[in-house]
Amino acid sequence: THRINIAIDGPAGAGKSTVARKVASALQYVYIDTGAMYRAVTLKVLDSGVPKDDDEAVGRLADGLDIVLLPGGDGQQVRVNGEDVTAKLRSLEINRSVSYVARLSRVRLRMAELQRNMAAGKGVVMDGRDIGTHVLPDAELKVFLTATPRERAKRRFLELEPGTEITLDQLEREIEERDRLDREREIAPLLQAADARLLDSTGMTVDEVAEEIVQWGLAAV
Ligand code: C5P
Repeated sequence: THRINIAIDGPAGAGKSTVARKVASALQYVYIDTGAMYRAVTLKVLDSGVPKDDDEAVGRLADGLDIVLLPGGDGQQVRVNGEDVTAKLRSLEINRSVSYVARLSRVRLRMAELQRNMAAGKGVVMDGRDIGTHVLPDAELKVFLTATPRERAKRRFLELEPGTEITLDQLEREIEERDRLDREREIAPLLQAADARLLDSTGMTVDEVAEEIVQWGLAAV
């Protein structure tokens, strides 16, 4: 059967990854979490001690990273040069640094290249910030998924390691700051593509949101 590519973009905590995973499973497509790729680069930047605003040094580091996403369990395993880093990607430290690393042109070029290769055979559901606008401008279905900042903070709160010292209010402020950095960056900012459908998931269940997108996907085939 004919397969399409589906791009799901939106701010942090809008439910993109949970929804995208469900949509992919319903359509038997491959789910690709591009945020996890930027998080993996950020992990390596923090580990290596390279200053995160040094485009040249971070770019060189990113060029040497082979990032592979494997389906697994209730998520996706992220391997960097063969090492499974999945469990290390959701920390507050990475949350706080990732948008600085993701601003750099060489990092974005490298990630977009890897992502386009992953989507070349069609049949992917890719979630991120710039998929509909930059990575896959020809995606047959584009969705811009949002929710109120409070709702998004609550969702991210539930993802944190138990015992993480942060209040919901502070997490909401940090999410809004990350969105601001993502929106205001020069290269491939967070932006709704002109041909994307806007979906506000506030008050909707994950299943309702996924079902809506599956229906749009089936109509777009
Ligand atoms: O989706 P997630 O919150 O894991 O993304 C983490 C960060 O990675 C975002 O805040 C953004 O800075 C960056 N990102 C990006 N482009 C993407 C996906 C994520 O710049 N396509």
